[in-house]
Amino acid sequence: MKEITVVGTGYVGLVTAAGFSDLGNRVIALDVDEAKIAGLNKGQMPIYEPGLEEMVARNVAAERLFFTTSYPEALQNAEFVFIAVGTPEGVDGEADLKYVRSAAVSIAKDMAGPLIVINKSTVPVGTGDWVADIISSEQREPIIFSVVSCPEFLREGSALLDFMNPARTVLGSTDSDAAEKVAQLHLPLRAPIVITNLRTAEMIKYASNAFLATKISFINEIANICEELGADVKEVTSGMGYDPRIGPHFLDAGLGYGGSCFPKDVKALAHMAAEKGRHPQLLQAVMDINIDRRRLLIERTENLLGSLDGKTIGLLGLTFKPNTDDIREAPSLDLARLLMEKGAKIRGFDPVGMPRTKQEMPEIEMAENAYELARDCDAILVCTEWNEFQHLDLARIREVMRCPVIVDGRNIYDPKQMSEVGFHYRGVGRGYGPDGQPVNSSPESR
Ligand code: UDX
Ligand code: UDX
Repeated sequence: MKEITVVGTGYVGLVTAAGFSDLGNRVIALDVDEAKIAGLNKGQMPIYEPGLEEMVARNVAAERLFFTTSYPEALQNAEFVFIAVGTPEGVDGEADLKYVRSAAVSIAKDMAGPLIVINKSTVPVGTGDWVADIISSEQREPIIFSVVSCPEFLREGSALLDFMNPARTVLGSTDSDAAEKVAQLHLPLRAPIVITNLRTAEMIKYASNAFLATKISFINEIANICEELGADVKEVTSGMGYDPRIGPHFLDAGLGYGGSCFPKDVKALAHMAAEKGRHPQLLQAVMDINIDRRRLLIERTENLLGSLDGKTIGLLGLTFKPNTDDIREAPSLDLARLLMEKGAKIRGFDPVGMPRTKQEMPEIEMAENAYELARDCDAILVCTEWNEFQHLDLARIREVMRCPVIVDGRNIYDPKQMSEVGFHYRGVGRGYGPDGQPVNSSPESR
């Protein structure tokens, strides 16, 4: 059993705290947000993440997991402290490190004994050294400490599963003893552990996320070409994915990537490259293609409906992906803004994302369920592939809509079936019609 402190009880910090306590450690989770800590002390989760509430309750009851806003209390016996505060996008795409700085200063002031400070937040390459400098200069008295980078690779919606079954653990430090001690903490997870230097570990995080974002933009570009040439991108990816050099993952074409990581991480990496005089052409293309996905869906809706002025459009799904309540950089919100600029009235439905969306965009009228969303709508745009949307009574949806138009930004429906139910349906990258013939190319035009 080790004494661990986790600073930040957001999507990453709370999962990390719950996970390490579940492995038998004594964990104190700290947050500067008093309301969040008061809620956690009453068993209320600040976020929706499958399985989290149960895991937190189990470890609180076993007296292995505690919540506080007090740094002195949190650091009294700590051997390890994880920094898991947010690193939002700052000016020019650069990561904003003000929260990391404030956590480092507080740790320096209140550390009570030798400490290993582990950075989980996604931070620009070189931040580990910067954190070490802050701690050295802000300490009240010299106490030994080391900084280790241990980037998070948790996907929202399956974060606990990812914590318990990581593909790998990456550790970077100039202090190999400290890295070894952090490696010991991760041994029960039975995953490969890569130990390297601080900057390389920080870079592994950016390179991994940028690569995954590149896969998504790549397949979205292929989807555009499929549409022109009468091919089906879903079948193209399943044909590609069997090749172990390619793999089947992160090849779902659609509305593009959103969330709290990919958009800001690709931008931050491009920013780091540009600052050093490099021109990150590929990263720029990845970002441009992603932004275009939103415009593409709007154009598609206009092609089917004509002018959007005065039309009612329903957004089916609001979160940036299923199984989370997170709407940060959600494509649905970009679509809502673009559609409103064109004079459309927007309605939305999401199984768990509506409270956060209401706060962010009160202009969106919320529906109680998918059928209420569809009532008198001129078109529905599918923005998130929640499982439950695949089992809707489509005939009932069609019946209540003013105009039976569905533009599916996540390819969750079968074009043939949609046509049989009587919808004007368009997915993404599916260049053939319900008759199985290409929609955009005729033999004469070849
Ligand atoms: C994480 C990572 O930290 C980020 O780098 C990564 O790229 C995405 O995931 P996330 O957990 O999503 O961020 O952030 P958020 O949900 O905003 O939670 C951060 C928490 O830290 C908040 O609860 C906030 O109150 C807390 N915080 C912030 C502190 O406790 N101290 C501070 O000084 C600032
Ligand atoms: C990501 C990383 O995957 C994870 O390792 C960690 O670094 C945090 O950031 P997350 O943002 O939670 O996780 O979700 P992820 O499943 O990676 O999806 C990101 C976005 O890409 C979503 O908007 C999703 O809809 C989109 N996506 C994903 C696609 O458009 N197509 C795909 O094939 C996969």
